[in-house]
Amino acid sequence: MKFFVDTAEIADIKELADTGLLDGVTTNPSLIAKSGRDFMEVTKEICEIVDGPVSAEVVALDHAGMMREAEILRKIADNVCIKVPLTVDGLKTCKALTSDGTMVNVTLCFSANQALLAAKAGASFISPFIGRHDDNGFDGIQLIEDIRVIYDNYAFETEILAASIRHPIHLLQCAKIGADVATMPPKVILSLFKHVLTDKGIEGFLADWAKTGQSI
Ligand code: E4P
Repeated sequence: MKFFVDTAEIADIKELADTGLLDGVTTNPSLIAKSGRDFMEVTKEICEIVDGPVSAEVVALDHAGMMREAEILRKIADNVCIKVPLTVDGLKTCKALTSDGTMVNVTLCFSANQALLAAKAGASFISPFIGRHDDNGFDGIQLIEDIRVIYDNYAFETEILAASIRHPIHLLQCAKIGADVATMPPKVILSLFKHVLTDKGIEGFLADWAKTGQSI
């Protein structure tokens, strides 16, 4: 399972990249706004830190506008993955860009039928939003399960990028279902390392080691 971090904060990306466990980055217009940084500049910096796909989202709503923005964004670096919304124009853009060898992440997916359309449009990644689905009274994890079944039925190569992950249980459930990628906020990734018994165990071992008077 690949781990992407869902942020535009350079310090957080560097910290996670240093663990050697980071496979990519996703951003969106809200995360760029939160960073307070220039979109092009921060995307370029992220692409230099991480080798894997870095999603940069278009903001135009029409096909021609999306193509124009994608043209600008994909020049930033070879690992830029163009993020388009799941709309008719978004999928037209997805088809055109992937036919041309550009990576595309289709975002804001809230139904398995939408995911089927994205796969038919040749998407590299489909981003179903688990947390936002849950918030609206739907079952975000069931959505991932349904998409997994459909993609496996037809051997679609589009990778399921579980998004809007809010806590470690979401990640655990996605891993059990077989989501290909999970994009998580930095604090969720860091929480995966933690266990109270790990901390307690280290504390106990260090206390006993001190009694031996030895050093390594
Ligand atoms: C994915 O690419 C999105 O940027 C992200 O996961 C959205 O998450 P949110 O619902 O926590 O904003």
